[in-house]
Amino acid sequence: MTYKNLIVNSENYITTIIINRPKKLNALNQETIKELHEAFKAADKDKATKVIVVTGSGEKAFVAGADISEFADFTVEEGTHLAANGQNILFDFVDNLATPVIAAVNGFALGGGLELAMACHFRVASDNAKMGLPEVSLGVIPGYGGTQRLTQLVGKGRAMEMIMTAGMIDANKALGYGLVNHVVPQDELLELCNTIAAKIIKNSSVAISGAIRAVNANFKEGENGYQTEITEFGNCFGTEDFQEGTTAFLEKRKAAFPGR
Ligand code: COA
Repeated sequence: MTYKNLIVNSENYITTIIINRPKKLNALNQETIKELHEAFKAADKDKATKVIVVTGSGEKAFVAGADISEFADFTVEEGTHLAANGQNILFDFVDNLATPVIAAVNGFALGGGLELAMACHFRVASDNAKMGLPEVSLGVIPGYGGTQRLTQLVGKGRAMEMIMTAGMIDANKALGYGLVNHVVPQDELLELCNTIAAKIIKNSSVAISGAIRAVNANFKEGENGYQTEITEFGNCFGTEDFQEGTTAFLEKRKAAFPGR
């Protein structure tokens, strides 16, 4: 499938989705959000994809936010729909994907850009990356899950300060906050993501999907994460991946997981 605002490459079980509006610093307009939904959905269904990496094109930005020009004249109803629809088709969708998603944060990740990076399962940043939620400087608040996910990732005090000041933090500060897992020079960013992906790919994709659901249960209202873990753990015993993983261990060979 071809997209207007995305470039998608698949190789070695890794699908890389590049958001490609460099002249607008890869700002997320509605068309790009819809395309991202389609690209993530297709990659998740594709048996030859075991890890998804999402990044921005160019050297300057991951994503500099939601496209401000699109919502400047919105009403209350339109604003509410914008946030609800975006959370539904992209941000919650990515967070709950069965396939692991890594954000390769290659520059500015602001507003909706940081919210997209935070919806991914974890983040790796280049040393020029700058992250922030500047929405209150525009008279609005983060609407794509930023108030919730930033708080989960960095704690309430740091999230409050970042949101209230609308400021940016650099990659090393983000590393110290636990917002990103690694910081590397920009020309090594995708290489590191691919190295991490290669480690993930060796493992059972069925078990990994169960682990994603169990970890995410910790953040779901009304869901008991320990119970979800018990259910997901139990389900593993009925899978071919479990048969193969345990048999391979006992036979002292590498597992060849059938996968999802
Ligand atoms: N929405 C729409 N357009 C955006 C955008 C956004 N979130 N972020 C950047 N752009 C556009 C700019 O309007 C500009 O377009 P133009 O060349 O047609 O005028 C282009 O991208 C380049 O951005 P520019 O501001 O000239 O680059 P810069 O290097 O001077 O500044 C930023 C970089 C990231 C600091 C600045 O673009 C910025 O503050 N962007 C908005 C960030 C934001 O508030 N995001 C949250 C939205 S809710």
